[in-house]
Amino acid sequence: MLRIGDLNLKSNLILAPMAGVSDLPFRMLNRKFGAELAFVEMINARSISHKSRRTQDMLSSHLKDKPLGVQILGCEERFILKALDVLKKYKFDLLDFNAACPAKKVIRRGEGSALLKDPKKLHKLLKLVVKSSQIPVTVKIRSGWDKDSVNAKEVALCAQDAGVSALFIHGRTRAQEYGGSVDYAAIKKVKQALSIPVIASGDVFSAQLAQKMLNETHCDGLVLARGSFGNPWIFQEIKEFLKTGKVIPKPAKPKVVKVMLEHLDASIAFYGERNGVVLFRKFFSWYTKGFRNTRPLREKSSRARTRLDMEEIIHRVL
Ligand SMILES: Cc1cc2nc3c(=O)[nH]c(=O)nc-3n(C[C@H](O)[C@H](O)[C@H](O)COP(=O)(O)O)c2cc1C
Repeated sequence: MLRIGDLNLKSNLILAPMAGVSDLPFRMLNRKFGAELAFVEMINARSISHKSRRTQDMLSSHLKDKPLGVQILGCEERFILKALDVLKKYKFDLLDFNAACPAKKVIRRGEGSALLKDPKKLHKLLKLVVKSSQIPVTVKIRSGWDKDSVNAKEVALCAQDAGVSALFIHGRTRAQEYGGSVDYAAIKKVKQALSIPVIASGDVFSAQLAQKMLNETHCDGLVLARGSFGNPWIFQEIKEFLKTGKVIPKPAKPKVVKVMLEHLDASIAFYGERNGVVLFRKFFSWYTKGFRNTRPLREKSSRARTRLDMEEIIHRVL
């Protein structure tokens, strides 16, 4: 269905790398509903070799968490090479290089989307990564730095020339961050210019928007990010819609409650009760978005400390 280097994927529906979100429990849950490829959270090349508890949690996986990509962020060759060396010990299937992150602290260091302003430097870094990696290398870009410098096609051609096996593109500029409309035309231009797979990201919030992205850009695959928040069913919905045109209704509350409890338990099993509950709080808000009269529960969940606290709150959603 989608081939990236020597990696054969059964479908082209991909769960985005998301800092602070894409942990092992989240990935496994989304896989259950149809996410094919998933990523661990973005990791700065500088911090990989520090082996902090946080980095180790981020890199943690298990046999069923496959196929799995890792995404690195960086702009200094020595740290990137060091990071690649550390990553060799892990069994990732794909290495993605981030040239898309819009965060100020990242840009200040010349990393992430700052590299869109310097395609030559990006080309050099990608060549190095491709040469030094034993697994397929991909790159994530944005449509450009701002509306006056939409240069995705130029950047994408540089990346292809550097030897990457596929390209992920978020159809927004750095200046847009996560708001404003997605530039489908910019993605389409990239797709037309490249011979490697082009995988699109931006506002895939429903099966219909997934279809729109495919129709308007002719991209080879879709990356889901915010559309998966509290909504792992979206993968099933997209699969069904693309295949049959049928719209699967949203799950009823009892099903949502069941999945929330499953997610909470997975989070506690992974992080321990204290951190597992705290980290689940944001997911509770996402799962209950759009449910009537749940604001007081969301406020309460932000103070939940134990599994029992959170379980009681979850049951009150019914
Ligand atoms: C909380 C959050 C964290 C993100 N972290 C990353 C990241 O670490 N690496 C990355 O390439 N993109 C990251 N993104 C961007 C998404 O992968 C995606 O490209 C973007 O959100 C657009 O897709 P959407 O409109 O469907 O959310 C993040 C997005 C969100 C909302």
